[in-house]
Amino acid sequence: MKTIIGNWKMHLGIRESIAHARGVLRSVMGHEVLPEIVICPSFTALSEVRKVLVRTRVSLGAQTMGTERFGAFTGDVSVAQLDDAGCGFVIIGHSERRAMNGESDAIVNAKMKLIAQTSLVPILCVGESKETRAAGKAEVFVAQQLGAALRGVTITKASRLIVAYEPIWAIGSGTSATPADAVAMHNVIRESLQKIGIGASVQVVYGGSVDGAHAYSFLREPGIDGVLVGGASVKIHEFEAIIGAGREVMIAQNV
Ligand code: PGA
Repeated sequence: MKTIIGNWKMHLGIRESIAHARGVLRSVMGHEVLPEIVICPSFTALSEVRKVLVRTRVSLGAQTMGTERFGAFTGDVSVAQLDDAGCGFVIIGHSERRAMNGESDAIVNAKMKLIAQTSLVPILCVGESKETRAAGKAEVFVAQQLGAALRGVTITKASRLIVAYEPIWAIGSGTSATPADAVAMHNVIRESLQKIGIGASVQVVYGGSVDGAHAYSFLREPGIDGVLVGGASVKIHEFEAIIGAGREVMIAQNV
């Protein structure tokens, strides 16, 4: 199974989100073999998009969540509220939130612990900066980020975890990592997970300037379980092409 996640970031209003969600549904209609598809609109559009997706094969996710269960936390949205809004997935530790909203490793870890008590699937983002890669420290950095995020988190056999490898330098830059680089880092991620006793039910996806033209080259790699798509996910033809690439790979490889 391949998983395709669309991170709509802060790009779309409610009406546009509804129209876009309908567009995604049109592109999956009539296909028996389909990758798992998750779309992550802004908070404001979640409930309307949920209505569009009800009883379809496209799932709803959120882009972030707060660090508390409930209470006087103005402006925050808790994981329970996301559950209530119909989200099955939530992105955690996206580099934009780490850089712009002070989402530290400790905060990411607190969120992972909260999610572990729910049925939501975390999409945990890790990835190195250009400088870290240039210094030859990318693998150590990503392994540390992963260890910090998952410290004390219980992932049972029944629960799912998606790790998204998103090198910061590739996000929104138009220059993705190569599939070979992504596969190499995915192997590091899997090894690190095994070391900390989290194994089987983890999927590792790649994100960073994925588009319709080259999604296939990532998705065909057995070590890449899917893609996390930002910019191209709000362009319906691009996203359709990425879903199409996922289908082709699944049909060709019978996965
Ligand atoms: P991008 O974003 O596809 O626009 O590079 C990916 C992401 O930020 O998740």
